[in-house]
Amino acid sequence: MHILKNILAMAAVITMSCSSMIQAQAKNNNNMKSVIVYFTHSGNTELAAKQVAEVTGSKMIRLLPEQPYSSEDVNWVNKQSRCTQEHLNQSLRPAIKPIDIDFAMVDTVFVGFPIWWHEEPAVIRTFLDNYGEQLKDKVIFPFCTSYESPMSEADATLKKGYPSLKIRKGLRLPAKSEEIKKWIKQ
Ligand SMILES: Cc1cc2nc3c(=O)[nH]c(=O)nc-3n(C[C@H](O)[C@H](O)[C@H](O)COP(=O)(O)O)c2cc1C
Repeated sequence: MHILKNILAMAAVITMSCSSMIQAQAKNNNNMKSVIVYFTHSGNTELAAKQVAEVTGSKMIRLLPEQPYSSEDVNWVNKQSRCTQEHLNQSLRPAIKPIDIDFAMVDTVFVGFPIWWHEEPAVIRTFLDNYGEQLKDKVIFPFCTSYESPMSEADATLKKGYPSLKIRKGLRLPAKSEEIKKWIKQ
């Protein structure tokens, strides 16, 4: 009887580990060769990127400005602050550190950012400018986090600024997994 109990317990363990292996495989097996590139200042967009990674199995790559933003830099009340200046002068492109992506290996790029001044921060424009050539044949899914602003204004500025890129409608996160799945099917 004791031996039978042990055999049954072992069988249960094996079944459970097989099922979690299958689940892990299913997560990455979405026929999508994708990567998540994101910028975050205070961490919210990194959590959002993790949500997208949970659903898609994509690797996450953080964009880092060469010169990090200080708290005074992101003080939007101050007209002279770096973020306000970057908003007022849309041609500004803060330098970013090079990123390690083999674009030949991906067909979809998720691009995440916090909404700054109702739209994408200038760092994202630097990324799209610097890597525009490699991004030309990719499908781009933008996503954002914000206090309250919807994604729609960033959708509009991205479309206007990068008409030659295949940019899909964006999503504001956090969102339910089902919503993320629906979004990437568009
Ligand atoms: C410079 C700056 C401008 C912002 N502008 C907006 C805005 O226009 N609308 C909004 O809802 N939130 C705005 N926010 C809030 C951020 O979008 C929000 O806190 C976001 O989740 C931060 O993401 P992070 O933690 O990844 O940096 C702004 C924040 C900063 C620092």
